[in-house]
Amino acid sequence: MSDKPVINFTRGVPATESFPVEQMKAASQVALDKYGTTILQYGKSYGFVPLREWLAEWQGVAVDQVLTANGSLQIVEFLCFHFIQPGDVVFTEVPTYDRTITLLRRHGAEIVGIPLEPDGPNIEALEAALEQQVPKFFYIIPDFQNPSGATCSLEKRQKLVELADKYGFWLLEDAPYRPLRYQGEEQPSLYQLNPNQTLHMLSFSKLIGPGPRVGMIFGEADVLQGVAKVAENTYITPSLLSHGIVYEYCNAGNLPGQIASLKELYAPRLQACLDALDKYLPDAEPTRPQGGFFLSLTLPEGVATVDVIKQAKNYNLNLADGGAFFPNGGGENFLRLPYCALSPAEIEDGVQRLAQTVADVRG
Ligand SMILES: Cc1ncc(COP(=O)(O)O)c(C=O)c1O
Repeated sequence: MSDKPVINFTRGVPATESFPVEQMKAASQVALDKYGTTILQYGKSYGFVPLREWLAEWQGVAVDQVLTANGSLQIVEFLCFHFIQPGDVVFTEVPTYDRTITLLRRHGAEIVGIPLEPDGPNIEALEAALEQQVPKFFYIIPDFQNPSGATCSLEKRQKLVELADKYGFWLLEDAPYRPLRYQGEEQPSLYQLNPNQTLHMLSFSKLIGPGPRVGMIFGEADVLQGVAKVAENTYITPSLLSHGIVYEYCNAGNLPGQIASLKELYAPRLQACLDALDKYLPDAEPTRPQGGFFLSLTLPEGVATVDVIKQAKNYNLNLADGGAFFPNGGGENFLRLPYCALSPAEIEDGVQRLAQTVADVRG
């Protein structure tokens, strides 16, 4: 057993040093001074109105097209309550975010996986699946996808919105990493391309911190009405206290600077990860994202992720199970590497340990 410090390539958590503690302290004071009696009370399940107004302006939509909730994952669950009856079909990319798979299963959805390529879902596979059945929605993470790191090309985005129109299904666009682009050109969101057929989710978890639990959805007012009803029946009101604090944080103009400093912190970490992989594991095939929290690897032929996870523990290296991201099996050689919460030195050390582990497993 190694006596080196543990390195975790497991969860997609933000770096603690990125949290804007002082600004949030100031925002808390202002929020309580200005809105104390409102944010300590129950309110509408749509969320804190000033925050919804601020978000509407940020994204260029009407206020009744914005709902805020306790994190964006819970919005996925609300959408399941709203749309899904047991046995209903839902499409996801494969691989996809494991916690969404769990929620879809909890609601009895039948998950049809559409293979994900480095530039987005395989369109031929999507068209073939649509010929078989039309889903209630296609859950998709077009920007810096969790877990793969893939970003959907403009051509595929255009095709996706065209198909959503043609067949009449919702695109559930989960975009928590979208604001974190370190290089390259931003693509229009699916929501920008086709607001009538898309429900767009964002989150402050990766921008300010997950603690306040502020996630949001942008979409058609009548769908949001259904979501608001589910929200009301779940928790009456989201946490207005934290939504009020986040509102004051944003209203004070802090967000652009915060996003800029996150990019400055994370871009070298992504580069360190890619450099280390090229140096120590040249025959793995990493994705090469231009932003976000993750990259992923296909381990060399014959090297199973489960064996690597087990062996890595001997080097105090913790890795996540790749299979969890595959709703219908597969992913035996898949490995996700979340790099944001590690320093460049830890990343290099971690990848070196990973390379040693892979060499051991290969024997
Ligand atoms: C794709 C995706 N959606 C949703 C979430 C959860 O976000 P929140 O903290 O807003 O619930 C995450 C967090 O890792 C994520 O990667």
